[in-house]
Parts: sequence; structure tokens; C-alpha cells
Amino acid sequence: MGLLSRSLEPELLDQLPPQDPRAVRSRGDLRRINAIMGNARIIARHLGTATRVADLGGGDGSLMRAVARRLGRELEVTVVDRIAGLEVFDFLAAPGRTLDAIVANLFLHHLSDHDLRRLFSLAALRAPLFVACEPRRSRPALWASRLVGLIGANDVTRHDSVVSVRAGFAGKELSAAWPLADGWLLREEPARPFSHVFVAQRDGIV
Ligand SMILES: C[S@@+](CC[C@H](N)C(=O)[O-])C[C@H]1O[C@@H](n2cnc3c(N)ncnc32)[C@H](O)[C@@H]1O
Repeated sequence: MGLLSRSLEPELLDQLPPQDPRAVRSRGDLRRINAIMGNARIIARHLGTATRVADLGGGDGSLMRAVARRLGRELEVTVVDRIAGLEVFDFLAAPGRTLDAIVANLFLHHLSDHDLRRLFSLAALRAPLFVACEPRRSRPALWASRLVGLIGANDVTRHDSVVSVRAGFAGKELSAAWPLADGWLLREEPARPFSHVFVAQRDGIV
């Protein structure tokens, strides 16, 4: 069951300096939350043979290391994150190295609908495959997000997990934001237990 509409509120992790102990601890919490959500498994399942990958809002890069472990092969990953001084819109707009795929894990929900469309328009020009794994905006996910204290999550994570679910996605909301163009196959669905997966694949590629 989806919650009615997205609501965007600032996340605490985005406001803390990367080396702040509360931010460092929260990134550790995120690794455990990603493991519980099964996000590395979900992303690995959709990456196909892609090797050259950009991870938007990729944090400390741990998610893509887990994806590579699952795939049992090396990936050439560019982690695009503010904590490394990289901004996703600048990265996507600048001519850069060839990419087989762009990944976003627990990142797209930070964006307004307008910025989401802008990001998708740029991403569609940069790679033939886009895979996103985001919080599902559902009552079970909201319920679970209120319980992250049980795994020892700190105040930052306890706040951000609830905010993230409220800003998450349901239905075909991400498909609706992808640029209208022939030649893309779109897939969007719940991924158990609490994730929402979106895959855009240029027809005939990968
Ligand atoms: C919830 S964390 C997810 C991190 C990582 N994907 C993971 O699954 O562990 C969201 C990340 O997006 C980054 N971020 C937010 N807005 C950004 C932007 N406009 N450009 C680059 N990074 C951004 C934050 O610094 C943060 O590391």
C-alpha cells in the first residue's frame, strides 16, 4: 500500500561534515540497512554485463563493493558524491568516460520531481542502462524505518530513515519521470522487503 504522495524534508546526513563522528556512524548504519534491504543483491541482478559504472550519491562506495562481490567480478566504479567533492549534475553534464551503466542507491529520493526529471534527462544521454534502488513509500517500509534504532542506528539515521521513506517512490513514479523517447525499456516494481527498483535499458543494448 503506497502513502499518498512524496514529501521532501532535509536529511541530517546531508547537513553534517563528512568527517563528523555522527555522519561516520550513520554511514556505518547505512551499510547495515543496505544489507537488510538486500540492495546490493537487487542491483547486481539488474547490472547484466556492465563493467564501467557510475554510482550517483554513492557515499563511501561500500554498496558497489558489495555489488562487485555478489557478481564475483571487478567493476570500474566512479563514485559520485558530495563527500568526495563531486556533484551529480556536474558529473552527468560533463563529457566523461564511456559508461555501461549508471546506478543510484538510496539517492534519487533526495531529489524534487523537477530535479529527478533533469537528472534522468542527463543520465539517458550518458549510459544505456540505469538501475536505481530506492526506499519504497509504503506503510510496511515506514513502520520498519521507525525501528532502525533496534539495530543500533544513531539519531541521524533514525531521523533520515523515516524522512527517506516519506520521500521514496511507489507505483510508476520513476518511469513517469524518465524522458519520453522511443527505444528505452522501463521496469519499475517493489523489491522485497522495503525497496523500490527502477531499471531503464536502451533497447537492444546490454
Ligand atoms: C542516503 S546516502 C546513500 C549513500 C549510498 N548510495 C549508500 O547506499 O550507502 C545519500 C548520499 O547522496 C549524497 N548526495 C546527496 N545529494 C547529492 C548531490 N547533489 N550530488 C552528489 N551527492 C549527493 C550524500 O552525500 C549521501 O552520501
